[in-house]
Amino acid sequence: MKMLNIALPKGRLGEKAYGIFEKIGYGCPEIREDSRKLIFENAESGVRYFWAKPSDVAIYVERGAADIGIVGKDILLEYGPDVYELLDLGLGKCRMAAAGPKGRRPSPDRTLRVATKFSRIARAYYESRGREIDIIHLNGSIEIAPLLDLSDIIVDIVETGSTLRENDLEVYEEIVPISARLVANKAAYKFKSAEIERICAALRGELEK
Ligand code: PRP
Repeated sequence: MKMLNIALPKGRLGEKAYGIFEKIGYGCPEIREDSRKLIFENAESGVRYFWAKPSDVAIYVERGAADIGIVGKDILLEYGPDVYELLDLGLGKCRMAAAGPKGRRPSPDRTLRVATKFSRIARAYYESRGREIDIIHLNGSIEIAPLLDLSDIIVDIVETGSTLRENDLEVYEEIVPISARLVANKAAYKFKSAEIERICAALRGELEK
């Protein structure tokens, strides 16, 4: 049996995803201990997990440092990594949306100033609708941009909607639904196909319960 390297996104989503792996018999008890350790191995079940920054998981998988990984659809759409998308885990459900100040819609005649962490998604969306935009790429706290008149709108992830609500913003348009996906490195999918297929089938079975 070949060892499978699995990249998990550090944080709540990664812990939930790991919970499913644990349920289907690929647990690694040490992970649950409170520590700063980042790599965990269970030789018997043939898996090695490591915690990566969520936006970096696809990089590990694309370059083969991880055979499989859990990554948000937002990251897949934004960076377009060359990986196989195997399964929708239905976790971390949220949506990519255009939002702005409540009760105000930007004039359609002027170039739309869009603040976002997701430049590619925003560009593709407005291009498909023939709308001219000016992208302002930010790295976080996107919601303040329209409040300070840095932008007209934002394109960002909306989960519960409370960040928007508490800042007097509202969704103008939904762009795309997002959830966590299981992805695989393309070469690993060939050379470790039995191992990957086995895990994938077990995950699918668990998700259908
Ligand atoms: C994300 C996203 C929104 C918020 C949405 O931010 O960018 O700001 O969560 O969640 P809600 O609808 O449940 O309020 P994150 O916490 O990742 O921080 P960021 O400002 O660095 O993007």
